[in-house]
Amino acid sequence: MTQDELKQKVAHAALHYIKDVSIVGVGTGSTVRHFIDYLAEFKSDIEGAVSSSEMTTAHLKKVGIPVLDLNAVGTLDVYIDGADEVTPHKHMIKGGGGALTREKIIGAASKKFICIVDETKCVDVLGAFPLPIEVIPMARSYVAREMVKLGGQPVWRENFITDNHNEIIDVHNLNILDPIELEKIINNITGVVTNGLFAMRAADVVLVGSGTEVITR
Ligand code: A5P
Repeated sequence: MTQDELKQKVAHAALHYIKDVSIVGVGTGSTVRHFIDYLAEFKSDIEGAVSSSEMTTAHLKKVGIPVLDLNAVGTLDVYIDGADEVTPHKHMIKGGGGALTREKIIGAASKKFICIVDETKCVDVLGAFPLPIEVIPMARSYVAREMVKLGGQPVWRENFITDNHNEIIDVHNLNILDPIELEKIINNITGVVTNGLFAMRAADVVLVGSGTEVITR
């Protein structure tokens, strides 16, 4: 199977987790795109979805799924999203698509976080994928210098503005042995909006498209 076919297969498997759920939290990315296409087949069974990005909102609307405001719906039963890396502890790096802030908010506001990935995303230690950090634009250089002190090599994601009108730094060469601690440390740097470590609120279930099957962790 190609990587995209694995993404499609794992996206389909996520439908199992939305049975009897009326409002679904929906992440961002190419794996989630497949999930939205499958979700569309069940749109009459759900009230709507809470979206993690303008891109996801556009796709949800296109397939006829109402997009709801998180403030109006309270705690969500389930959030479905992809990841750039995921460990056996279900810690993740996210934000390759730049949607990390809204993704982290919806993850925090959901009872169950279902991570859907193809097998290429599974790692033992996070950090081979550059860690995205959303920053207030005027803090970009300052945050970058602080990340150098932490041993990383920050690269400005040029010509990219997030849905929240901020900028992204991608930090290379971090060998993240304690993701919960590093998530807290980066959160404390002034000017950081969100960092792409999803460890304090890890996934509850990871579905991995592997070979010809989907493995549930
Ligand atoms: C979006 O900002 C990311 O967090 C995505 O969830 C992540 O990059 C996974 O994307 P793919 O499903 O496209 O691999």
